[in-house]
Amino acid sequence: MILSDRNSMFSPHLPLGDQQSAPWYGKDIISVKQFTKEDLEYVFEVAHEMRVMVERIGTFDLLKGKILANLFYEPSTRTASSFTAAMERLGGSVIPINEVKYSSVAKGESLPDTVRSLECYSDVIVLRHPEVGASELAAKYASKPIINGGDGVGEHPTQALLDLFTIFEEQEEVNGLTVTMLGDLKNGRTVHSLSRLLSLYEVRLNYVSPDILRMPPEIVGELDEKGIPQREFTSLEEPLPDTDVLYATRVQKERFEDPDEYEKVKGSYIISPQTMRVAKEDMTLMHPLPRVGEISMELDDDPRAAYFRQMEYGMYVRMALLAMVLGKA
Ligand code: CP
Repeated sequence: MILSDRNSMFSPHLPLGDQQSAPWYGKDIISVKQFTKEDLEYVFEVAHEMRVMVERIGTFDLLKGKILANLFYEPSTRTASSFTAAMERLGGSVIPINEVKYSSVAKGESLPDTVRSLECYSDVIVLRHPEVGASELAAKYASKPIINGGDGVGEHPTQALLDLFTIFEEQEEVNGLTVTMLGDLKNGRTVHSLSRLLSLYEVRLNYVSPDILRMPPEIVGELDEKGIPQREFTSLEEPLPDTDVLYATRVQKERFEDPDEYEKVKGSYIISPQTMRVAKEDMTLMHPLPRVGEISMELDDDPRAAYFRQMEYGMYVRMALLAMVLGKA
């Protein structure tokens, strides 16, 4: 594609105001269940265009004048900063509430009142919250789009979208792949969302976890109904040689009520250069990060280690999502 001037790739779509007929205009992004395969193709096409534009010109004014409120009740490095970077690369600006204890939440303000306040000053809100269903609740009260940045052990839809985009970028095709998910599959919202998205394709899924951290039965049942072959293991040894994508996750200390239970399972899996000797030469190693010892730093230069590229892809996907819900894509 030849881009002759700023925003030229969007010129057929660019109105003077928001394009209210755009299919995702004004919509909330709460769950991956909202996305069809065609929607995913569209998101990835726009994300790819965003990547081209960032590589060519860095920052451009597609969302000039728009404001994002980043409302984070839980810690975040990647989700918060990549949404900030995405908005700023598109010419918009950000209200960062990354530490709710310094906001009126600390005075007891409810989630509905907090989002109703923030939408007075912003056009879109990204919400991370420790409770499952918080984004859905926020969306009920807000008239501006709510994007779920992770709701407790529930879902992390924008992470799953960037994970799938990463798989397409690294493997070129998703149909036919064997994807192995490893670690805390009970509490890991990223694997809950990603497994659901992958079920739109012809994949085989392996789940490797300690017994107390298995993939929730409702997700296994949901995918079973769709005919997705799923196998469970407690060791990586058997599934690794046939794996095309290994998706590692950390054991989520903050979700354990009993610290002794955490101590029993922390460090259950450590992927090292030794582990990777039996893995395919062209497989992809992913992790949503942060890692707390699951992947040895010695692997960072292995071409199969995609977790830092995965983070960068996240910004392009989030640029696409912001443009879509604000009617500019
Ligand atoms: N992957 C992810 O959600 O990272 P953060 O917790 O740093 O946002």
